[in-house]
Amino acid sequence: MRCWRISARANWLRVTGANSTVVTELVALGLERREARWLVEEFLPGGDPEARQALAGAVHRRLEGEPLQYIIGHWPFRSLDLDVDSRVLIPRPETEELVGVALGELASSVTIAPLLFDLGCGSGAIGLALLDELRSRGVAATLVAVDESRGALDVARANARKHQLHSASFVESSWFSSIDGSLRGRVDLIAANPPYVGESEMADLDPVLGYEPQGALVAPDAEGEVGFEDLATIVREAILWLRPGGSLVMEHGDSQRSALLALAEHRGYVDVRDVDDLSGRPRVLVARRSA
Ligand SMILES: C[S@@+](CC[C@H](N)C(=O)[O-])C[C@H]1O[C@@H](n2cnc3c(N)ncnc32)[C@H](O)[C@@H]1O
Repeated sequence: MRCWRISARANWLRVTGANSTVVTELVALGLERREARWLVEEFLPGGDPEARQALAGAVHRRLEGEPLQYIIGHWPFRSLDLDVDSRVLIPRPETEELVGVALGELASSVTIAPLLFDLGCGSGAIGLALLDELRSRGVAATLVAVDESRGALDVARANARKHQLHSASFVESSWFSSIDGSLRGRVDLIAANPPYVGESEMADLDPVLGYEPQGALVAPDAEGEVGFEDLATIVREAILWLRPGGSLVMEHGDSQRSALLALAEHRGYVDVRDVDDLSGRPRVLVARRSA
């Protein structure tokens, strides 16, 4: 749960000569230049007076500390432009890497129309990006996106409509508890980015996390590990829902790797491994149900 890498938007910039003067004014007010440029691009495309008022409101919110992503109201995630607001976690770059790992797992499987679960879907980032990228490869996947937050599910549903991803369904459930039991043993890939920050860790993290839903971030400690409860629940139960040979791909925190590897092996998964993120931190557990 690191801060956002923001280079993804760099190629969106189209600041005109006139707007660059406004950017300079906003920098003088205390905004970082790249953020000032994004806000200008978003709120002042035509430069009319009404837009200037909207821009002023946006700048005020940013100077108060609100994350840029919520102010702009959408954010790129892999192939998608996702709507985001305070009901959902802002999708992170390391989660984009998880999607890459999940696509690799699917590529090595024989299924032609895979069934996917996205547990704790939030904005729908993981599951919808998988559907979209599989669609562009000619693979017709089906997605069950799960969250216990009704607000998050509303955002995810809207993102599915926005990107015409009609094979997604949305289930309000605490992890597997309300998912259709007939899907047990049939899922090709379970992707999850559950809460994994311990209550005790929150104070040391970026204060901007205070704007995000705490239910998306914080998990109870379990088994002597900080923030481990949701991760452990998913490892224990996912194997019952995977088809033989199906994969669990799950994001986790820096310190949780060895406990997760041990738990997955103890639970009977095979090919258990863990993948670092691009900054070299332990980040994604990958584990298969034996074929
Ligand atoms: C870290 S956020 C991940 C959001 C999104 N998948 C992403 O990667 O950007 C965790 C999500 O899990 C959801 N969540 C928390 N506890 C849950 C539970 N017991 N059952 C289902 N979803 C839960 C939260 O509402 C939140 O949307």
